[in-house]
Amino acid sequence: MSDGFRVVFCETPAAVAQAGAREIMSAARSAEERASLFTLVLSGGSTPRAVYRLLASETLGRLNWQATRLLFGDERCVGPDHADSNFRMVSEELLERLPIPRQSVRRIEGERGSGDAAASYDRIVRESLEDLPGKLFDVVLLGMGGDGHTASLFPGRDYASDGALLAVPATAPPASPIRDRVSLTLRAISRSRRVVYMVTGEDKRSMLARVLDAMKRGGDPALPASMVTSAGEVVWLVDRAAHP
Ligand code: 6PG
Repeated sequence: MSDGFRVVFCETPAAVAQAGAREIMSAARSAEERASLFTLVLSGGSTPRAVYRLLASETLGRLNWQATRLLFGDERCVGPDHADSNFRMVSEELLERLPIPRQSVRRIEGERGSGDAAASYDRIVRESLEDLPGKLFDVVLLGMGGDGHTASLFPGRDYASDGALLAVPATAPPASPIRDRVSLTLRAISRSRRVVYMVTGEDKRSMLARVLDAMKRGGDPALPASMVTSAGEVVWLVDRAAHP
């Protein structure tokens, strides 16, 4: 641990996925020891797919998925069956393969539009935190975009206007196919025992160097990924190609 975060070097993307699954398993065991619900906030994007696959193939019978609650770090404003829906990706990789009770999954209802969906998710996140020990999520999984975004917090965001909110409407840059988004706020992400970033690929390397450097200085508002904090630790799982 240094500067509030820790970078874990992993040789390959597969090793990043394995390390991610280990982080999740170890946090789940800690929750079990505390006899509390294990609460995992899932990330979208392409990198976590491999982790979800591993969890689906390796944790059946080893993790009590009945005592788990799943939330989402962000969502596109589309229906749950849309090809760009994070919920759909998680359903395919995880929910359809593991005995996770439907009522344990708190999805963001992107199809309601960003304003409505964010307001409703803000309430859901608030209520979820209320019944957790220490009012903390166990693990928040995150990815980082090549522009320094994380979840759907993009560069240029006015964090001050997020105030005390836990979920907010967000807008992705023009090049994104689905620009209307809902995202957890930095405040919501900080209500965590552990944040686990997974970053792979050479196209992320220079931005990762900038983000880590900014984190050492307490974060740069122009690089949202560098502004993330946790009540516990922030762990970066990084493959060789992305490693600065
Ligand atoms: C999303 C995300 C987003 C993602 C990064 C990295 O829903 O797209 O939550 O923040 O994690 O853009 O995405 P990749 O893993 O695809 O590079």
